[in-house]
Amino acid sequence: MSKNVRYENVNKIFGLGTKNEVHALKDISFTINEGELFCLLGPSGCGKTTLLRNTAGLDTITSGKMFYGDVDISTIPPYKRNIGMVFQSYALYPHMTIFENVAYGLRVRKVPNDIVTKKVTEVMELVGLQEELKRNPSPTALSGGQQQRVAIARALVYDPDVLLLDEPLANLDAKLRRYMRAEIRRIQKATNITTIFVTHDQEEAMAVGDRLAVLRKGIVEQIGTSDELYNQPNNAFVANFIGKMNFFNAHVIASNNEETVAEIDKTGIRIAIKKERRHVDPLVGDVVLVGGRPEYLSVSSEDEDDSIPGTVRIIQHLGSFIRYEVEISGEISPVTLEIDMDSLQKNIHEGDKVYVTFDRNRVALFSPEGRDL
Ligand SMILES: Nc1ncnc2c1ncn2[C@@H]1O[C@H](COP(=O)(O)OP(=O)(O)OP(=O)(O)O)[C@@H](O)[C@H]1O
Ligand SMILES: [Mg+2]
Repeated sequence: MSKNVRYENVNKIFGLGTKNEVHALKDISFTINEGELFCLLGPSGCGKTTLLRNTAGLDTITSGKMFYGDVDISTIPPYKRNIGMVFQSYALYPHMTIFENVAYGLRVRKVPNDIVTKKVTEVMELVGLQEELKRNPSPTALSGGQQQRVAIARALVYDPDVLLLDEPLANLDAKLRRYMRAEIRRIQKATNITTIFVTHDQEEAMAVGDRLAVLRKGIVEQIGTSDELYNQPNNAFVANFIGKMNFFNAHVIASNNEETVAEIDKTGIRIAIKKERRHVDPLVGDVVLVGGRPEYLSVSSEDEDDSIPGTVRIIQHLGSFIRYEVEISGEISPVTLEIDMDSLQKNIHEGDKVYVTFDRNRVALFSPEGRDL
């Protein structure tokens, strides 16, 4: 039966008290709902695998508590936790047939043969390998995507309370990855098992997850749906990790309860930002960032009011939109902007001088902290 997973002030310190001490998880507290497909996302070294391994019981947390449903599992060994795990390297047993690979978790639980056959058949159907099961080859005779399906079937066959996936698609090529992430979502929704999916690929996390947690240096920076994280990032780090954000150095000219006026350095451009798009409590004179997603900026060959001059470096056709990379004066930070336009601007070519403007109603204000990933 599916359970929720709850973390209460979880800390993990490797090499506690030694000179190589690493505080890998810092006071983590949040809940993953029953039946939820939850993504842990963040740059390399932020603590994703550590949190997953500790959730599985493969490692022990330094302090805090973890619960599956109402049960405190902080000190319960992994084999008593009823979890399914899938790793980046599928870790299938090469000397066993795919049937026996999938059956493994039932065999160790001493499940009778007829039920093993029934369960393996059902789960292989669920992951779309019913034809392969009839031939029943060794896993080494399967493609990467098929092996990954076997690994998922093996983790699901004994109805775990929680399914844990650590970068399960990292070894697949880009097209298969996109296909398999939709498959994982389909399978997860069909089984409704609470699932934690670790990835460092933000697009994958946004596509797969019901909700996402963005981790950075062992801290949960923000939890929310893809839409919330994209449209209401709490800080510059999340804004730049979930999709692209162009940031301009700015300082605060005036501020009240309703809005803040910031001036972009070296340009004299002033923008009033309403409180709901203000992710910092600014005082007059404070250094801040004005952030705009590529689609909130536009390029024009005409010099408009309050535009920033620049030079087009590259024009990229990316399917439904066109991305212009525009280099602006080294005086203004950043030096290169990414700007997405719905259609090709016929009169603008690579190397041309252009003018960049903002959608003033959509740019947001952030603290400078965490701007660089
Ligand atoms: N067994 C260990 N001993 C000491 N330090 C460790 C150990 N395992 C992980 N760490 C450290 O803990 C931090 C978090 O590591 P973790 O493997 O959880 O990162 P991650 O988010 O999974 O990164 P990646 O995306 O590269 O897989 C890192 O600084 C790492 O060096
Ligand atoms: Mg990892």
